[in-house]
Amino acid sequence: MSFTSREFRDALGLFPTGIAVVTTIDPAGRMAGVTVNSFSSVSLEPPLVLVSLARTSRSLDVFEAAKHFAVGLLGFDQRQASTIFASTAGTSAERFAQVRHRFGIGGCPVIEPALASFECEVWARHDGGDHVILIGKVVAMHRDAQATIDPLLYFRGQYRELSEQRAEIAPFRLEGW
Ligand SMILES: Cc1cc2nc3c(=O)[nH]c(=O)nc-3n(C[C@H](O)[C@H](O)[C@H](O)COP(=O)(O)O)c2cc1C
Repeated sequence: MSFTSREFRDALGLFPTGIAVVTTIDPAGRMAGVTVNSFSSVSLEPPLVLVSLARTSRSLDVFEAAKHFAVGLLGFDQRQASTIFASTAGTSAERFAQVRHRFGIGGCPVIEPALASFECEVWARHDGGDHVILIGKVVAMHRDAQATIDPLLYFRGQYRELSEQRAEIAPFRLEGW
């Protein structure tokens, strides 16, 4: 390969994303939550989404045992929740104690409020190299219907905010999306 892992990460960082917290509970009652920007839509019918979880994640065994997971898309004012669930410090219980959540389908913790949240049944797990690709079938969904919350964005390794000024450059709606 003609590039280093660092160069690869930096190049991937040029693709702006939102930030989500993916949460779960396993049959033994262990909860886990991880900040991710690998969230992606997969299928409309059936409604499928994915997250990609590092094999080094301390939470991976909980996600491997779980039947459900939830994804909460964070608003710009939820940077603290992003930082808490991206931290390697503290226990899972300590993280959840700091962030508001409710318990949804299958007893799965769901971050709230959120821009949108997706409660999922585990549909598939795939090998993703040093990550595990977790695909979920969305069985419940909540969203900020008034669209009052701005998203928390991630670009070039930093949190970003939508700029309304620049958004006016392309104010059109993409047909069909
Ligand atoms: C903006 C951002 C995006 C991240 N995206 C991912 C991701 O998609 N997958 C992942 O496994 N870790 C991702 N991480 C890193 C995890 O949040 C971090 O490793 C966390 O500490 C994992 O916790 P755990 O080891 O206790 O499971 C991201 C971190 C940040 C700050």
